[in-house]
Order: sequence, then structure tokens, then C-alpha cells
Amino acid sequence: MRLSLRFIIPLMLALAAIAYSVVPLVDQLTLRWFVRDLDIRAELVANSLQEPLQEQLLVGKPAKIQAYLGRLIQDERLFGLGFCTQAGALIATRGFPAALRCDGLERFGNAEARLLQSDQGPLHVAVRAIEHEGSVLGRLVLVHDMSFVERRSEETKRYVFYFFIGLGLVVSLITVVIAQLSWRGWVQGMRALLRGEGLLREPGKAMAATAPEFRPIARDLRALIREMETEWRPRDDEQLAWTPDTLRSILHGELSGEEVLVVSNREPYIHTRRGGQIEVQRPASGLVTALEPIMRACSGTWIAHGNGSADRDVVDARDRVAVPPGHPAYHIRRVWLTAEEEAGYYYGFSNEGLWPLCHIAHVRPTFRTGDWQQYVAVNRKFAEAVAAEAKRPNPIVLVQDYHLALLPRMIRERLPEAIVITFWHIPWPNPEAFSICPWRAEILEGLLGSSILGFHTRSHCNNFLDTVDRLLESRVDRENFTVSYGGVLTAVKRYPISIEWPPPPELLARSVEECRAEARRRLHLGPDHLLGVGVDRLDYTKGVLERFRAIERLLELEPRWIGLFSFVQIAAPTRASIGEYQQYEAHVRALAAEINERYGRGDYAPIILKIEHHEPQEVYEYYRAADFCFVSSLHDGMNLVAKEFVAARDDERGVLILSQFTGAARELPEALVVNPYDADQCAAALQMALTMPAAEQRDRMRLMRGLVTEFNVYRWAGRMLLDAADMRRRGRLQERKRRRQEEETQRA
Ligand code: G6P
Repeated sequence: MRLSLRFIIPLMLALAAIAYSVVPLVDQLTLRWFVRDLDIRAELVANSLQEPLQEQLLVGKPAKIQAYLGRLIQDERLFGLGFCTQAGALIATRGFPAALRCDGLERFGNAEARLLQSDQGPLHVAVRAIEHEGSVLGRLVLVHDMSFVERRSEETKRYVFYFFIGLGLVVSLITVVIAQLSWRGWVQGMRALLRGEGLLREPGKAMAATAPEFRPIARDLRALIREMETEWRPRDDEQLAWTPDTLRSILHGELSGEEVLVVSNREPYIHTRRGGQIEVQRPASGLVTALEPIMRACSGTWIAHGNGSADRDVVDARDRVAVPPGHPAYHIRRVWLTAEEEAGYYYGFSNEGLWPLCHIAHVRPTFRTGDWQQYVAVNRKFAEAVAAEAKRPNPIVLVQDYHLALLPRMIRERLPEAIVITFWHIPWPNPEAFSICPWRAEILEGLLGSSILGFHTRSHCNNFLDTVDRLLESRVDRENFTVSYGGVLTAVKRYPISIEWPPPPELLARSVEECRAEARRRLHLGPDHLLGVGVDRLDYTKGVLERFRAIERLLELEPRWIGLFSFVQIAAPTRASIGEYQQYEAHVRALAAEINERYGRGDYAPIILKIEHHEPQEVYEYYRAADFCFVSSLHDGMNLVAKEFVAARDDERGVLILSQFTGAARELPEALVVNPYDADQCAAALQMALTMPAAEQRDRMRLMRGLVTEFNVYRWAGRMLLDAADMRRRGRLQERKRRRQEEETQRA
């Protein structure tokens, strides 16, 4: 209200001042109009008198002329009439002002001077010559009453006064109403801003609309909050509880692009046809294990090769299917490959070339030009799919693994504003080993289209930087772990991958006791039979042969376990059309048979080999049923089986034997860490696992569970997203700096 008064009082004063200056103006203007009217009137009267007056003058009787003029002033406006003869004599009617004389009439020539102030009020004087045949007979003097002008001027002043009073009141009223309304709105808007509404995007919701006048304030506050968060983040990273919600809030708060696209070769759900029924399978893949919970948290689209026998039957017109079945949270967009493409890109270049190249498992890589050509073509196919799926110019694209090494640069060419985070799930070899690849430069160039390139371990990051340094003309910054190549800055960082924590409740639904009893029943073992478990794809990098040899060695050294202990190996068939894998399977089967032959007794077999696909539920039941889990990879980026076993053991029992050549061994030193090539050492670890007291099992398991709780897969993805947000911010700053410099150069 006070604010309104502060506005209204000056407004009224201003209006009064305007009125004060307007009135004389109006006066002058109306006077001028009236004088002009009277001029015209006088002209008319003079013209109409011209002839009769001539006649009267020619007759030459002044008394008659006076009488004639006297009749004419009946007109209420005409105040008086006079006629000045050429000799200067005045014949005047009644009312003719005495001050008017024939010898001073020239001064009424111009408009202003035609006014005369007399005792009777203001008068208008007009002088017109009366002529006859070219000679002037005299001058007619017309005197009009102008007192009506004053009356009208008074009236006008009154109206102007009332008009301004009215105007002032109306404006004041409108002002008060608007001020009240907008003040209330402003206060509400400000309160909302201070509460943070309209500043931060809530997960899954569009940003609240902010009133235009608040936008600059909101922008500043937003910048301030972000700045504060940036400072707070490094400390908080350790303190945060990493959950799907944490991940969502990073995605929506830190990164303006909310669209998440995952691209991998392997799809998370495979639809297969069995006996006329469509079944859904979860593939055995660490990549899928890690990323599936991320996608459930973030929604978005997962672009992958559709290779299930019923995959085409369940997709929509855009090759999309909502998953997980029954609880859809995101979409799979399937990319179809021809048999030739799959043979060259997947089996050939990826799995006979890059896979053995990156793993030290003593299998020689095979590189064929035809495979490479298919690899390039399929990467391009995936890039087209990414561009088609992206709804905005700046999606967050998570590119997965060695199948898609060329994709990051191809995406950058199509979507320059995208954040491309590439994760290399397998080890990166040293530069000498990598140089074997005939298309080494192309692979590196492709990967360096990423904003961030992640590996599981620091040594893989170092190997990559060494390789780039050796093979490409680029700027490698070892201080900050970045590579600048072709105008793109790539951060090379360590992000140890992990699993969902807590594990999905359905996987832990059956108690450990139930799982133990059920597994032993199924395997025809006694209730107290000791059981070890191995869970792998049947891949030569997994060290399954070495594992069996260690078991053999144990039974050799400690025959007391014969009949009391068995090892169940779950082996998911994989890449079965590659010769190396077929041979490996044959070797594994043969070795298991050999050991069972040697140490088996009747129904008893020390090695129970299950080469078939198992769903996560069954795998978790084996984890919970076992006394130990043996991971003996010869070389492994991380190995999530180790972490899954730890996650499955909420009873804090069970022992993990873990190869030193896995990324996981760096994070889980409480496991019994072994060299899988050393059979004696492994046998000793097996012995220790079978005899470890419950208390020690608990102590080790607690520490390992603590690690996986803290470093779960949400943290893995969250850390990458936070780093991507930092990079985007840094990129914007640099861009601003560059533009400023450009402007300065232009000005100079
Ligand atoms: C490794 C790779 C993954 C792959 C998985 C299963 O973990 O890093 O990219 O999905 O093996 O292999 P597959 O060839 O069956 O996809």
C-alpha cells in the first residue's frame, strides 16, 4: 500500500502540473479559433452589406445610413457598426465603442490586434473597405461581442480540471490493483525461487516455468548452486549412498541432456523361440550385468544387436521392445545384422582379432581384411541407429566395449554436441601388443571421438596412453590423463565396474540353507558334501582348465577330500562358431572327464560340469549353496562373478579364490588371491578355503561386502556422468574464452 501511495502522490502532482500548463494553452487555442470565426463572420457581413451600403452612400444621407446600420445590429453577436467616410467622419450605431476613431483604424489590420478591451468586455473589431467602381467610399467597422469567449474559456477550464481529476483517480485505481496483484505474484515467485522451485529439474519432470522477470535471477541462482555442488562433490563422492535415485539426480541435475542411449553389441534380453513358445533369456555377460540396472534407473534406449531367434517377432515398427518384461523401464532398439556382417564384425574382427589381442591368454589374434570391412560397416550401422534414436542434439551416449571402437568418432560426426562415454570392458594391452593390429590407428582414432574413455584399472589407462603416444600424432597429458586429438579432448579414466547393490531381492529370496540343501539334492550329493563353484562363459581367458588342474592337484596332495568335496562348473556356451572356442570346450570336457575318471568313485564325481545357459536366479542359488567360489581368469578386465558371489553371501560365509590377473583382485584383497598358472598355489588356496574357520570367512566376507556396497554399479556410472558434466562445463568455458578472443581479434 505504501508503495502504491509512493506512486500515486507523485502521479497526482504530475497531473496537476500538466493541467496547470494545459489550461492557458487551451485558452489561447480557443481564442484563436473564435477570432478566426469572427473574422470569417465579419467578412461575410461586410460582403453582404457591400451593395446596400453603396446605394445608401451614393444617396448620401448619413441619418439613413445610421438607421440602416442600426437595424443590422439586432444580431446578438454584432455589438456595434460604424462607417468612416473618406473625409474621416464617423457614422456609428448604438454600442459602438467611443474609443474607436476613424483615424486609428489601421492597427486592426492583423489578427491579434483585432481585439479591443472595453468597459463592456472584450470586443472583436474588423475593418472592411466599401468600394464603388474601383474607388473607396469609406470603411465599414464591425464590432463583435467577445464576452462569450470568456464564458466558454471558464467552462473549458472547469471541464479540463474535472477531466484531470477523473484521469488521476482512474490511473491511481488501476495502479493500486496492478501493484497489489504483481507484488503478490512477485513475492510468491521469489519465495518459490528461494525454495528452489524452477531452479532444479526434478527427476522425470519438466522444469517449472519461471516468470520472465525472474529468469535472470533464476539463472544466477542456478549457476551458484552448480558452483557450490562442484565444490562439494569431490568430498561427497565418498559420502553419498549410491542408489538408482542418486544416479537419476546426477543425470537430471548435472547434465542438461536427459536422454541416455546405451550402445553395445550384446542385448540385455534375448527373445528365443522354443517349441512354439517365446522365451526371454538374460545373457551371460558382465557388461549386461553392470548396465542393466543403470538403464532401469535412467530409462532411455539400449541399442544392441538383435540376434535372438524370436527377436524380430516382438519388436514394434521401429524395431523397439520395452523391457524388462512385465516391468518395462526402458527400450531395446534392435539392430539387425546379416550373417556376413555378424561373421565379419562379431566373430571375426571382434572375437578372433581384438579379444585375443587385448587378453594375455596366449591365443594368437587373427586379423582379416574382410572382417575389418564388416567391422567398419557395422559400426556405421550402429552410428546411424544412434542418430535415428537421438531425440535431442546432445544425448548422453554410453558406448560399450571393443565391438564398437569406431563408433565414438562416428557419433561425434553426426551429433557433435553429444556426450560420448565409452567403456572398454576388457584389458588394454601394452603398445607392442596392440601394434599387431593392422588397423591400430583407425581403432585409436575411433575411440578418441569419446568425451570420456573408461577402463577398469589404472594400468589399462596407462597402457592406452602409451599406445596413443606411440602410434598417433596427438597431445597426451599424463598429468590430467587426457588426450587431445582431431579437435576432441578425451579424458582417459579408471572406473572399476561393479554390480547392483543391494542385489535384486528375488535373487536372494531363498535362504542359504534352502539353497544348500536344494543344490546338493539336485547334484545327488550328501547334505554335508563340500561344494565349490565356478561360473563363467566357456572362454579360454577364464582359466577353466587351470582351475580343474588346481582341483586335480588338491586331490593329489590331499586325497582326504575325495568323496567329500565336488566342484560344480557352470559354463555358459559362448561364441561357439569360433574354432578356438570349440577346441576349448573339447579340452574342458576332456579334462573334467579325465579328473573324474581318476578321482571319481561310483556316483561321486569331483568335477560337475554344466555347459548350458543358466538364468541369474539359478546362478545365485549356486553361489549361496557353495562353500567357495573359484575365479581363475588368465586375464580379465574386472570379473563380476567375484563381486556377485560376495553380493550373494548375505550370511557372511563362503570363501572367494580370485586370480591375481583380474581387475577385481585389486579391489578384493580379502579374497584368496592366486596365480592361476601356479597349480600348487591354487591347490593350497583350495585347501585353505575348505578348512577356513567360520569367523575368518565372516571377517573376509564382511570387508569384501563393504567394498561392493560402497563401490556399486551406480557409483561406477555416476562417477562417469559427473566427470562428463565437468568436461561439458570446462568445454563451455573454453568455448566462451575462444569466442571472446575471436571477438577481440576482429575488433583489433
Ligand atoms: C565380455 C565382453 C562383453 C560381452 C561378454 C559376453 O564380458 O566384455 O562385451 O558381452 O563378454 O560375450 P558375448 O560375445 O556373448 O557377448
